Amino acid sequence: MNKRRPKIEFGDFQTPLPLAEAVCALLKSAGYRPRVLIEPTCGEGSFLEAGIRAFGADTAYFGLDINSDYVVCATRRLQDCHPKVTAPIFHQDFFTFDWKAFLSDKDAPLLLGNLPWVTNAVQGILGSENLPEKTNLKRLSGLDAMTGKSNFDISEWMLLKLIESAGKRPFTIAMLCKTAVARKILEYCWKKDSVPIEGSLYGINALEWFGASVSACLFVARFNLNAITETTAPFYETLNSQYPAMRFGFVDGEMVSNIDEYQQVKRLQGVNYYRWRSGIKHDLAKVMELDVIGEKFVNGFGAEVDIEEENLYPLLKSSDIAKGVITPSRYALVTQKSVGEDTEALRKTSPKTWDYLEQHSALFSARKSSIYQKHSLYSLFGIGAYTFAPFKVAISGLYKQMRFTLVPPYCGKPVLMDDTCYFIGCDNLLEAETLHELFSAEVTHKFLHSVVFTDSKRPITADILNRLDVHKIAEQIGASERLSNFLKTGTMETEGQGVMVFEKRGEYAPSS
Ligand SMILES: C[S@@+](CC[C@H](N)C(=O)[O-])C[C@H]1O[C@@H](n2cnc3c(N)ncnc32)[C@H](O)[C@@H]1O
Repeated sequence: MNKRRPKIEFGDFQTPLPLAEAVCALLKSAGYRPRVLIEPTCGEGSFLEAGIRAFGADTAYFGLDINSDYVVCATRRLQDCHPKVTAPIFHQDFFTFDWKAFLSDKDAPLLLGNLPWVTNAVQGILGSENLPEKTNLKRLSGLDAMTGKSNFDISEWMLLKLIESAGKRPFTIAMLCKTAVARKILEYCWKKDSVPIEGSLYGINALEWFGASVSACLFVARFNLNAITETTAPFYETLNSQYPAMRFGFVDGEMVSNIDEYQQVKRLQGVNYYRWRSGIKHDLAKVMELDVIGEKFVNGFGAEVDIEEENLYPLLKSSDIAKGVITPSRYALVTQKSVGEDTEALRKTSPKTWDYLEQHSALFSARKSSIYQKHSLYSLFGIGAYTFAPFKVAISGLYKQMRFTLVPPYCGKPVLMDDTCYFIGCDNLLEAETLHELFSAEVTHKFLHSVVFTDSKRPITADILNRLDVHKIAEQIGASERLSNFLKTGTMETEGQGVMVFEKRGEYAPSS
């Protein structure tokens, strides 16, 4: 293994010495004096050098890397650092190294450094074998669950591996990593009472230091100290911040991004009278999504498509919903009215649609997600009566700004949205307007802001939205008499249409 191997596969971002020095200075000023310092994937050894300079000869130092060139480089580099320090650097693969045995005689070690920045999904695309074995980790519940996932950060797996290998002895982790990875580790430990952990996050500018556009931090965590019962952690904006910008943590059985704000608005949680659903999922946009060009429908391969229009529904994408766009410019081919419905019926009812699907059957067979395997070849997910509700109140799950958009029907048809959006289906405009007003209220925004981690890939989820209780929001915003009555009684006076009755329900069903 040498440096010429692609850097991506090894998540290889060497830490500049000044950053490693700043981390060690922070640890030292916080009172850390490790007896043993280990850099688990040490590369050229910046953290070992910074550690030796900060903590001197009272500490024992060890490093390990899979890249033999780095092992030679780090060994040479550290020879001249301190006259009384020798730091053995092992040429080893993290995944096959016996961490448990290695850590068994180390006294309260500090595991310091910067693990590979790569996900298993990227490794899969590269055909890389630099991954943990799936099968040999059955005993380790957290790790085993992770190797079954289609996308996880290698560094998250490595951190859990170190934690599980260290067992019950006191130790400290100080690692640069994605903020989301640090949070997941804390969440994992907080949920598993048997892993007492005291953590802090310090933001770092990954673009400036590593040229990577990702929210990153220094994750410092102390394990197995007797007094730890906390399930919250401070977030400091920089390594030099004196005070935390906020505390986040595991509160009321959920992860919360800003505990102070959450305490002020947590009363908005209660019954989800309306159930948030996600948009349609098909994983085959080139076939299932058609642009309208002139009078024609054109698929993602640029081919004109002539199929029964009754199977086509206007479609909005996440970016449309986030911008408040309600005029669709594309259509979705809908093969089912509910999950599990047999698509074979289309052969008779919609022969042109059936032919079109058959032309692309190989692409449907190649859909990777396991959810398709037990269902008809042309099946969809995120489909049900709610999909065809004429009015919707929708939000994109992907954006930091939390904008709810009221989506009316388009050219007489209900508008659908993709599976990165969430929505409530409504029978009529009044119901949609009412819900739109409630979810767009400032207090609702404050609640979402307090629980959502804006650096996540999908900050908003149906689970989060379903925690909100529309009655409680209405109480908070001092809603109009009409709105309050509606929420109390399920009825509302409508101009020219007499009294409208709205069923209170968890699930949308068209009113008869
Ligand atoms: C993000 S770099 C960090 C290097 C060093 N810790 C630093 O902070 O400069 C990740 C390092 O992980 C090493 N690495 C990747 N896969 C590994 C594996 N399976 N076992 C050991 N080291 C590995 C790479 O060679 C690279 O040096």
